[in-house]
Amino acid sequence: MKTLIKNGTVYIAGKFRKQDIFLDGTQIRNIASKLDVKADEIIDATGMHVFPGFVDIHAHLRDPGHTYKEDIVSGTKAAAHGGITSVCAMPNTDPVVDNIASVDYVQRRAKDLGSCKVYVIGAMTKKSEGLEISEMATMKSDGIVAVSDDGQCVQDAKIMLNCIRYAQNFDLPIIVHAEDYSLSGKGQIHSGKVSTKLGLPGLNALAEEVIIMRDIMLAESTGARLHIAHISTAKSIDLVREAKKRGVRVTCEVTPHHLLLTDEACLGFDTNTKMKPPLRPEHDRQACVDALIDGTIDCIATDHAPHADFEKIKEFDHAPFGVIGFETAFVALYHHLVKPGIVSLERIIEAYSQAPARILDLPNNEIKKGNAADLTIVDLNGESTIDEDFILSKSKNTPWLGHTLSGRIKYTFVDGRITFADR
Ligand code: DOR
Ligand code: ZN
Repeated sequence: MKTLIKNGTVYIAGKFRKQDIFLDGTQIRNIASKLDVKADEIIDATGMHVFPGFVDIHAHLRDPGHTYKEDIVSGTKAAAHGGITSVCAMPNTDPVVDNIASVDYVQRRAKDLGSCKVYVIGAMTKKSEGLEISEMATMKSDGIVAVSDDGQCVQDAKIMLNCIRYAQNFDLPIIVHAEDYSLSGKGQIHSGKVSTKLGLPGLNALAEEVIIMRDIMLAESTGARLHIAHISTAKSIDLVREAKKRGVRVTCEVTPHHLLLTDEACLGFDTNTKMKPPLRPEHDRQACVDALIDGTIDCIATDHAPHADFEKIKEFDHAPFGVIGFETAFVALYHHLVKPGIVSLERIIEAYSQAPARILDLPNNEIKKGNAADLTIVDLNGESTIDEDFILSKSKNTPWLGHTLSGRIKYTFVDGRITFADR
């Protein structure tokens, strides 16, 4: 298949330029200001932007085991609809992905049926129970890109230290979901004014911060790689900023919801505002935005966490934690941060395509000759109305339901193949 993309505003090496792009088979064959070549399909991208495909390193595809919420087919279709070309699948499935048979299952299904590339994150401890180290060595030879017990957090510091040391042998990054259970307890939302007003048990911010401090110290003492998932408080960010200054090999990600929403969004008891870590007050949200701009926060990841209607349509404290994110991430960030001039479009693209690939040693996905043709074409003048028909994910648990957001994904290409087209 040969595709010619004409006249797009293309993100190349950090800048935007009017270029034509020629995709031949799985690769980007040529880029120039004007290309006249025979192609099977010509896409007129006049007035549109062409970005490297988004790389989402934190997602829950729920397959195997929870396929009523999502599966690899629906999840990767939703990802493609969001302009995503690579996702990293978290292992908190049933069974937990803590061995090569499970890694093989996810890889094989994604390869046969997926609409984007899927990289597997293996569990750090067996069944993610936080007690015994998983089979990291064999899973690494099978292609996992990191280990994590996301959704759970190893509480025992000695076990965490052993995991960090063991993962270091294979240069496997550890992704930590930072939560001290003695501090988070039965908390439902951030512990503060809003939780008091609603009469909901609060989730102490220290639950996140204490573990981030612990794990930075463990990474510092060993020289291992540590990636902090969904960072959400100003204090957590300060800890990372200071650690980076000391040369600790620590990176972190932020979700679109922690960049754009505060705990005030929970005032209506909408269970689609319930997730871990919880939405925080304005000063924490602002700190996330500032840290994304100054680079303390390395990348954006969605933490796409599908849950079915029958689970979310419940009293607030009985609903599960988590919101979907694939299909709204870019348009929500564009609408609320880029359009008002708060964050540059270049920074969002860097943090949602190049940086995450670097953090987990995934293939470089810049738009350049010879690279895989993984890209997305976006109409920034278009808009996306987020309703149930718009969402391709099996689950509809997003706080953006009913919102109209600026920007519209028009095409997504993975290895030169169209995986989403807004025709
Ligand atoms: O809100 C969340 N949901 N946070 C997590 O860390 C896990 C996720 C899930 O798996 O549902
Ligand atoms: Zn998590």
